[in-house]
Amino acid sequence: MEPIRSPIPLAEMEPAARPVHTAIGLPPACYTDADFYAFEKAAVFDTEWLCVGRSSQIPEPGDYFTATLLGTEPVVVVRNRDGRINVMSSICQHRAMCITAPAERPKDEWFDPPPECSGSTRNFRCPYHWWTYDLDGRLIGAPEMHQRPGFVRSEISLPQLAVEEWQGFVFCSFAADPPPLGPRLSAFDEMLANYCIKEMVTTEPEMLPMPFNWKVFAENFMDAYHSLRLHASLYDFTEADTSNETLLSGTFPPLEPGSIGIGGKGRTGFKDRGMNPTQSALFPPIATLSEDDRWNVVYLYVAPSLLIGCHSDSVHWLAVQPAGAGSSIMTSGFLFPESTTKLKLFDQLLKQHTRGIELFYDQDMPVAVASQRGMASRFAPQGPLSQQDFFRAQLAEWLIERYRAAEEAATSHG
Ligand code: FES
Ligand SMILES: [Fe+2]
Repeated sequence: MEPIRSPIPLAEMEPAARPVHTAIGLPPACYTDADFYAFEKAAVFDTEWLCVGRSSQIPEPGDYFTATLLGTEPVVVVRNRDGRINVMSSICQHRAMCITAPAERPKDEWFDPPPECSGSTRNFRCPYHWWTYDLDGRLIGAPEMHQRPGFVRSEISLPQLAVEEWQGFVFCSFAADPPPLGPRLSAFDEMLANYCIKEMVTTEPEMLPMPFNWKVFAENFMDAYHSLRLHASLYDFTEADTSNETLLSGTFPPLEPGSIGIGGKGRTGFKDRGMNPTQSALFPPIATLSEDDRWNVVYLYVAPSLLIGCHSDSVHWLAVQPAGAGSSIMTSGFLFPESTTKLKLFDQLLKQHTRGIELFYDQDMPVAVASQRGMASRFAPQGPLSQQDFFRAQLAEWLIERYRAAEEAATSHG
């Protein structure tokens, strides 16, 4: 396939990756332009690791769930007989039917895309002509096909994606041989160690299609600048320590070459803070945290598709993927130590906890929608960054490195 070139010159993007005090925003077209999206998808999302969920969603062999990557690629995430996780395309290799789609649907759903689903199975039988694949994607049944001269069943299988697990999250990649993910996050191992994220269990992940560019969401989630202003009515972030360690006045550690982690630790105003109107954590503190950890939060972006916010009682995870220039899909959940989920009042508390976060979304989501519209305006700026906008400068630095590599590859291709 012809490499795709950026319709926006790199020179217009590069000022976004300067040190924060001189950086400006990315060109607005990076958030709205369909051709740029095609370029970005190839440069970033077709080459890097994408988070699809948690390993604990499929504890037993045969357990599976489905996902749609980048808005167009349905996959099935399944634990095979050996206990290993496969992420494979759910496109049937006979006639491109989605093998996990239902065999029938009521009239008011005829024209809807196949729904995501989960369950446990011995194999996957395509509902269309009953080609059947095992948990490793091998074609094990194909009615009538023995009649076809030269048909070799063993030559056909579902396309497999590269898979890696990190801290209990399942990542996959369209790249044939992507550089391993774990070592590229090692700078954060120590910061995350006491949360024991790998052992935590997730609440049922929730999927939310969002009508704005994926960067609008990622930038907002990590944006320290807006927390004190947009959320002023909701939460007293001013109590955060003003030392350099805080997320509000400080910055994140500089990007290491090859790293895919942007984030850091911040000090809060008091111990065991929670993101709800009581300002306090609703669940017991994670037992493995130190006294000091309980004063901190850790926010980490695992580029390009996972955001995590670690608090003293829980971890909020959000897997975000683009579905187009102006649309994205978020899959999110909360992680808790298993003991917390056994609390008698867990379900009640979870409702309050979830609503607490949604109060922030009541402010963040409309702002994201309006900003996306604004990016399409002829008057949209490449505005100057505040020092509290440090995440945007680092994200731009990370992205532009990939954009540049893709441009160079396209140039050498001719
Ligand atoms: S499309 Fe799947 S069996 Fe024909
Ligand atoms: Fe926010």
